[in-house]
Amino acid sequence: MRSSRLTAMTAAAMAALLALTACGDDAGGGDDNAVEVFTWWADGGEKAGLDALVGVFDDQCPAQTFENGAVAGGAGANAKQVLASRLQTGSPPDTFQAHAGAELVDYITAGQLEDLSAGYDEWGLREAFPDGLIENLTYDGKIYSVPANIHRANVVWTNKQVLTDAGVTETPTTMAGFIAALDAVRANGVSAPLAVGTDWTQLMLLETVLITDLGPQRFTGLWDGGTDWRGADVTRAIADYDRLLGYANGDRDALDWTDAERLLMNGQAGFQLMGDWEAADLDAKGFRDYGYFTFPGNGETFQWLADSFTLPRGAPNPEGARCWLRTVGSSDGQREFNTKKGSIPARTDADPANYPAYQQTAMADWRTATPVPSCAHGSACSQGMLEAANSAVAKFSTDRDAGALQDALAQAATRYGAG
Ligand code: GAL
Repeated sequence: MRSSRLTAMTAAAMAALLALTACGDDAGGGDDNAVEVFTWWADGGEKAGLDALVGVFDDQCPAQTFENGAVAGGAGANAKQVLASRLQTGSPPDTFQAHAGAELVDYITAGQLEDLSAGYDEWGLREAFPDGLIENLTYDGKIYSVPANIHRANVVWTNKQVLTDAGVTETPTTMAGFIAALDAVRANGVSAPLAVGTDWTQLMLLETVLITDLGPQRFTGLWDGGTDWRGADVTRAIADYDRLLGYANGDRDALDWTDAERLLMNGQAGFQLMGDWEAADLDAKGFRDYGYFTFPGNGETFQWLADSFTLPRGAPNPEGARCWLRTVGSSDGQREFNTKKGSIPARTDADPANYPAYQQTAMADWRTATPVPSCAHGSACSQGMLEAANSAVAKFSTDRDAGALQDALAQAATRYGAG
C-alpha cells in the first residue's frame, strides 16, 4: 500500500516535471535555451565564418542551442529591414549583428540595446580590444556590443588570368594607372572589366574614389562635418567615379556582390572593389586564382568596419545571448571566426601565424595604416544617411547626373548631420 502510494507520488512528480520541461521547451514557440542569432551571413564565406563561430559557442555554452536567424542579402540589405520591424513590434532576436560606429548609435539612441559594460569587465574585454575601437563602441560611457572582427573595405580583387592575358603585370597605384589597366583588359575583349553590383557596392566604389581624391583626413571629414560635400574635390571625385562606372557591367543594379563576384570568377571581369569578405568567399567557392590590392590612390589607408553583436532589450533568452557574446569576444571565437570570414580579429592578442595569407597582410596593414570609416558598412554614417546615399548612387547609376548626385549627398549630409 505504502509502496504503491510512493510509486503513485513518484509518477505524479514525474508527470509534473515532464509537464514543466515541455512547457519550458514550448515557451514562445521554441526551445527556452535557444539563442537566436540574427545576421545576414547565409552563404559562402560568410556562412563558413558563422558556422566556425557556432562551433566555439557549442563548446563554450553547452547549455544553450544556436538558432540561425540569418536573412540573406549582402550588407544586410534585406536583414536590416526585417530587423527594424521586429524591433518595432517588440519581437527581437536574442542577439543581432550591427556595425560598430554610427550605425550602432541609431539602435542605442532608439533605446533598443542593453548596456554590456558589466560583461566587458567580467570577460576582460576592455583590455582585449584596441582603445580606438572601444571608443567607437562607447556611447555616453557605456558599451552596447561586442566586436567579432575588423574588415577592410577598400580592396580591389582581381582575376589573375584575365590580367595576365591582357598583359597587365603591374599593380595600379593611381587612378590613371587603374584606368590604363581597365583599358588594357577591355582591349583584350572583356567589355566590362570592372564588376559592380547593386547600390551599396556602388557606394563603396564612390567612397574609395573619394579617399583617393580627398585623402584620408578630408574623406573622414565628410562624415563628421569637417568637409563640405559641395567642394570642388568632391566634384572631381564624382567625375572619376563616373569614369570608372563606364567600365562596369550594365546589369549592376540587379546584382548582389556575390553575383558581381561571379563575373570576376568567370573571367567576364578583371577587377572588383569589395570588402575582404571576398577573400573568404572566393576561398569557400574554391576559386584560387585571385589577386588583391588596395584601391589605387588610397595609399596607406585602411577603410575599416567591424561586425559586432548586441543584446537587444526584450531578448527572450538574455542569458544565452550573453554566452554568445562572451564567445564572440573570446580568443578562440575570434580565431575560428576570422580565419574563415576574411576579416582580422578585433582582439589585439591574436597570432598572425594562425591566419591565411590575405589576413596576415591585413593584420600588418591594420597596425600601421591610417584608419578611415565606411558609410556603406556603418562605421561612418547613420542608417538614414546610408539609405539616402544608396538611393543617390542608384539614381546616378542610371541618369549619370553628376550635379544631382553631389547635391543629393550634400543634402543628405546636412539632414543626417554628416558633413
Ligand atoms: C558587411 C558586413 C560583412 C559582410 C558584408 C557583405 O556589411 O560587415 O561582414 O557580411 O556586409 O555581406
